[in-house]
Amino acid sequence: MQTIMFADESSPARAGIADVSSSTFIDNMRLPVHRWFRYSAGFSARWAESAIRRASVSREGLSVLDPFAGSGTTLLAAQAVGVPSYGVEAHPFVARVAQAKLLWTEDPASFVDHAHQVLAAAVNEGAEIDGYPSVIRAAFEDAALADLDKLRRAQRRLDDGSPSSELSWLALVSILRSTSHVGTAQWQYVLPNKRKARVAEPCNAFREQVALMALDMSTRPSTLPPAVLIKSDARTCAGVPDNSVDLVVTSPPYANNYDYADATRLEMSFLGEVESYGDLQSTVRDHLMRSCSQHVNERTVDLDAVLTDPVLRPIADELTSVCRTLAEVRLSRGGKKNYHLMIATYFHDMAHVWRAVRRVCRPDADVCLVIGDSAPYGIYVPVVEWNGALAKAAGFGDFSFEKTRDRNIKWKNRKHRVPLVEGRLCVGE
Ligand SMILES: C[S@@+](CC[C@H](N)C(=O)[O-])C[C@H]1O[C@@H](n2cnc3c(N)ncnc32)[C@H](O)[C@@H]1O
Repeated sequence: MQTIMFADESSPARAGIADVSSSTFIDNMRLPVHRWFRYSAGFSARWAESAIRRASVSREGLSVLDPFAGSGTTLLAAQAVGVPSYGVEAHPFVARVAQAKLLWTEDPASFVDHAHQVLAAAVNEGAEIDGYPSVIRAAFEDAALADLDKLRRAQRRLDDGSPSSELSWLALVSILRSTSHVGTAQWQYVLPNKRKARVAEPCNAFREQVALMALDMSTRPSTLPPAVLIKSDARTCAGVPDNSVDLVVTSPPYANNYDYADATRLEMSFLGEVESYGDLQSTVRDHLMRSCSQHVNERTVDLDAVLTDPVLRPIADELTSVCRTLAEVRLSRGGKKNYHLMIATYFHDMAHVWRAVRRVCRPDADVCLVIGDSAPYGIYVPVVEWNGALAKAAGFGDFSFEKTRDRNIKWKNRKHRVPLVEGRLCVGE
């Protein structure tokens, strides 16, 4: 039988972590290595670590998986506990960030040496800022962009594929937000009309970032368990062996229209990986599970085929009803967003994720997801219950849910008044 609990109730899932909020990355900005790149979509490293530590007490030889590894929080937390881990991440830029963070075990002196060569070589590079896309021209003063461009050229020239050059790459992409004079919203979108009070100078910011990374690297232990980040897809978990995982700690995209592609547009545009907003589709979104309306349209989604796919059978009736309502409601709304397609494909993708996770998990594995529900156009979507049903259909046992916070309760700037929650969904045998 399913259980729904609240954070102030006692629960095995919360033991020893009463002060840790699972759903925010902000505290990670004070933690070694985690703090190297601010990934707002990330969750709490302390919470992940405590969940893994607790499981490691009762299981010898624990092996951990995060199928939505993001910037690598779970993998670093598993290393801190001393257990091996796999991570799967499909976003090409985010996967590279995570892979670079995992190089924290390399020799800091070699990295500092390489980064200082980049700084020295940058002085002799000629800057060319005219070719940058408009989002970059709007985000940086010309002088700052010229310095960043020189650093980028020098980093590329000295890129020999070594861990040190990858770490220099990370140092460079990590300073783009602090050297931009425009505002960046909580969820990382660039706000060209909002000016920042303090803007860092690129070469100083790079030097400081390198020093911070080297400091964290200097604390590395002599041996660490493997942490393997695979650029792959959670819907298949390709690359993760069958029957190899005891504990899954993760946070999938929420069905809340957050666009992970747009979130890294600044960095990817600077790197020349995308030219325009349109490029984000083939470069990023096509690799991700469908959780935002920009991801889906009538041409690419056959709604009836999705809703009648046997993989969605456990929730088909309720899901169909919600999607039909959304299809009607959108006609009366300005944006006419494709939420009906987004919700159907979101659960279709999650059904495949649950099957893939079942394949790689040992029979008695535990799975813990940080997740929130959603209400596009004010239509409530029971994300927790439906995920619990899909997990069960994939071969897991009953679910429990522990609410950690309310969402959508502030009256200002709300698009709808449906109360929402965020919390931890756990399933086991
Ligand atoms: C909520 S974030 C997880 C962040 C992570 N817990 C951290 O601390 O950095 C969800 C992640 O799932 C990734 N993602 C989306 N679709 C995916 C897919 N099909 N396979 C693997 N990763 C995917 C997104 O790019 C995003 O980084």
